Amino acid sequence: MSEPTYKAGKQPHANEYRLIFRNIDREGWDTSIDTYLNEGGYGELKKALGMEPGQVTNEVKASGLRGRGGAGFPTGVKWTFIPPNNTKPVYLICNADESEPGTFKDRYILHQDPHQLLEGLIIACFAVGAHLAYIYIREEFPEAAQIVEKAISEAKAKGFLGKDIQGSGFDLEVYVHRGAGAYICGEETGLIESLEGKRPYPRIKPPYFPAAMGLYMCPTIVNNVETLCHVKHIVKMGGEEYAKLGTPRNTGTRILCVSGDVRKPGYFEVEVGKITMGQLINDMCGGLKEGRKIKAVIPGGSSAKVLRGDEKYTIGKGDDAKELSLLEIPMDFDTLMACGSMAGSGGVIVIDDSRSISWVLNNINNFYAHESCGQCTPCREGSLWMKKISDRIVAGTASPEDVDTLDSVARNIDGRTICAFGEACSWPTESFVAKFRDELTADTKADLSGTLLNPESKLAAAHLKSQQEAQKTEAKPVAV
Ligand SMILES: Cc1cc2nc3c(=O)[nH]c(=O)nc-3n(C[C@H](O)[C@H](O)[C@H](O)COP(=O)(O)O)c2cc1C
Ligand code: SF4
Repeated sequence: MSEPTYKAGKQPHANEYRLIFRNIDREGWDTSIDTYLNEGGYGELKKALGMEPGQVTNEVKASGLRGRGGAGFPTGVKWTFIPPNNTKPVYLICNADESEPGTFKDRYILHQDPHQLLEGLIIACFAVGAHLAYIYIREEFPEAAQIVEKAISEAKAKGFLGKDIQGSGFDLEVYVHRGAGAYICGEETGLIESLEGKRPYPRIKPPYFPAAMGLYMCPTIVNNVETLCHVKHIVKMGGEEYAKLGTPRNTGTRILCVSGDVRKPGYFEVEVGKITMGQLINDMCGGLKEGRKIKAVIPGGSSAKVLRGDEKYTIGKGDDAKELSLLEIPMDFDTLMACGSMAGSGGVIVIDDSRSISWVLNNINNFYAHESCGQCTPCREGSLWMKKISDRIVAGTASPEDVDTLDSVARNIDGRTICAFGEACSWPTESFVAKFRDELTADTKADLSGTLLNPESKLAAAHLKSQQEAQKTEAKPVAV
């Protein structure tokens, strides 16, 4: 394997550790199978096919790999959830829906290194005993779907897919399925419904955990694109060796996508927990714009709870407890959770002091109100109410009590819905109100207090008129 060189302006930062993104923006690299094979491609598949499937799963367990799609669930453990006495077919689905705002890593893999994904996916199928796999690709990635389809036919022509792969006796077919163009298609049970040709209405868990009752009610493993790519490297390095990357319980590398108010936004692959928020923002992303201060960071995609720039975060317990500033937080699953947020999908959104918090929250609420699938009343109605209340705050037509109402609506969604979209849409509001109540309240008008309770007042009449105008453009008319 040759040492990669990268295109002008695309060189990795010195703090990066390129495992999954080794070939991204690489000089002389293309998506053909010949290029991939020249670099030792499919070597790990051959190695895995010489092992027992259970051994591969054990290596993945030993690696400590946690899913990169959002929840950070241990991948090897998930694979063992297929019922031991199962007699039904097992399916594997690669989740390439990548729809969480602030996240833009999987698309680079699909566009520039599809064989890496296929190799990881085939090994994963071998480990879990799946003979049919789907790559569910976001509707808005038409080019990615074409590239992956071409890679599948190349892999088949070379005997890495199809019947009796490389003489191992293992058969596997892989199909690309184009997504249905909604955020909720990324939620694994909504995705499965969509793949079955239905509306992507998420299923309730329990009982519909995909590993037991997934696609066509058969055991189904759903893994993210980046997660599946790691499998190939785990087979190459061995689980224990892989686990030396990153930090204990937060092993390996992960791709962080940085957007918002930094000089050099982009993607960065780092060892998990080995760099801090400050290193990421100031060293790797060139810091903030001239004269700006950090106001807040959303560390794991727009559904992650916001962290304030000037707050102190206590992690650890007892004698091990320590206080960290925002910029001192290591970027790993457990620390971000201890700080009250999550590593989520790896989408880091930086907000500087030029931004109106009301505007940022309203932007997020607009997204979630649009994307609720509508199955559960708290989410369907509540996500729209949160949008409408934050619309009012931004427009300067909200009363101070509206901030409490906003918080109360969010807290009545969280934990009361079929799928985790309920948390995804309510956590931004809950955390923005908790951390920026003063600023949100400052954007309301004290003289509008009680107007909603007094429909006779002139202010209330004007207010209601503006609401009615806004509602004309809404698909789901709901009075708040
Ligand atoms: C509302 C919602 C949207 C989601 N969108 C995505 C997505 O776009 N891509 C993804 O990989 N996982 C997404 N997930 C997580 C998946 O449900 C699932 O946990 C993940 O694909 C499992 O893969 P992993 O274990 O490799 O992380 C979403 C979850 C929720 C609740
Ligand atoms: S929580 Fe929201 S997105 Fe999830 S099933 Fe209920 S209505 Fe649909």
